[in-house]
Amino acid sequence: MKEAVREAAALLARGEVVALPTETVYGLGADALNPEAAAKVFEAKERPSFDPLIVHVARKSDLHQVAEVDDSIRDVVEKLTSTFWPGPLTLVLPKKPEVPDLVTSGLPTVAVRLSAHPIFRAVCRELGRPIAAPSANRFGRISPTSASAVIKELDGRIPLVIDGGACSEGLESTIISIESREGKKPLFKLLRAGPVTKEDLQPFGRVEKAKERPGELPHAPGQLASHYAPRTPLLMFDKPEDFIPEEGKRYGLLSYREEEKDGYIGLHEWAVVEALSPGNGKLAEAALRLFFVMRQLDEAGLDAIVAEPVSETGLGVAIMDRLRRAAAK
Ligand code: TXA
Ligand code: MG
Repeated sequence: MKEAVREAAALLARGEVVALPTETVYGLGADALNPEAAAKVFEAKERPSFDPLIVHVARKSDLHQVAEVDDSIRDVVEKLTSTFWPGPLTLVLPKKPEVPDLVTSGLPTVAVRLSAHPIFRAVCRELGRPIAAPSANRFGRISPTSASAVIKELDGRIPLVIDGGACSEGLESTIISIESREGKKPLFKLLRAGPVTKEDLQPFGRVEKAKERPGELPHAPGQLASHYAPRTPLLMFDKPEDFIPEEGKRYGLLSYREEEKDGYIGLHEWAVVEALSPGNGKLAEAALRLFFVMRQLDEAGLDAIVAEPVSETGLGVAIMDRLRRAAAK
């Protein structure tokens, strides 16, 4: 693995892009301070350039290489980073001039996180510079949670994929921006729900869901109505029994638990059933498997995928967010 880490860092230093494992999803990394390298990320992903990238640092103190943390938020940033870093929390902060506009899509802010994945961190340390890395999928598609999924998405477009096994979280990081408030706890705008939940953040500030304003540039394209989408239409019903199958068509069910697969649509047989949490009915397992299962159903040659909603508490908020966007046209 040392060899692969060195090779990845050498490619990044030359301005190339490489796919790397993180604990959330696989990322497509480039030297965050090199705009030509960042441009290659947009090209490989076919990503519209209004969509800014997350900058990953190798250690907590490196946050200050890319972001300004003024006195009004210093304490809360310190608390958040010592509690959740390394890990799946991304902070949107005012950017340093060294960060190219292409990386932030011209925004005055930069999204920063410290990945907990040992391979990602080793590459970042070896490179000695921050790494800009969006999820390693083509724009709008399902984020890859294994090296083989990256290869399916981006084969032939990138020189190296490091296989670090399956991602341990399976969903992209939680993204927040921070506003200080005179005499009150800081305000966190939740730009993307993720593994660090509202409940996890509440001890440190007030959490508000960022408003989605149709027609305006998204704060986070994870906020675009249609995102994380399989090619096969994905349908969601509050009550799956409301789904009326058409004769002769093949449908797959994305259920929460294994035993819930029977009976929804009368006598209609599901061509495939994939349970998000077959083992224990826990949301963490469901989060971990969501993109993997969506990808499997997408490859099963179905006419449609019918998804069962999960309860919207804790991690369920992030899971439902991804399912709704996958279902949006
Ligand atoms: O878990 C993750 O965050 C993964 C791994 C690879 O680290 N990365 C990831 O990146 O999900 P990406 O590019 O697929 O999603 C990044 C999100 C986008 O929705 C983008 O709009 C938002 O972060 N973002 C980046 N910079 C921002 C900024 N300055 N203000 C608001 N949102 C920002
Ligand atoms: Mg993405």
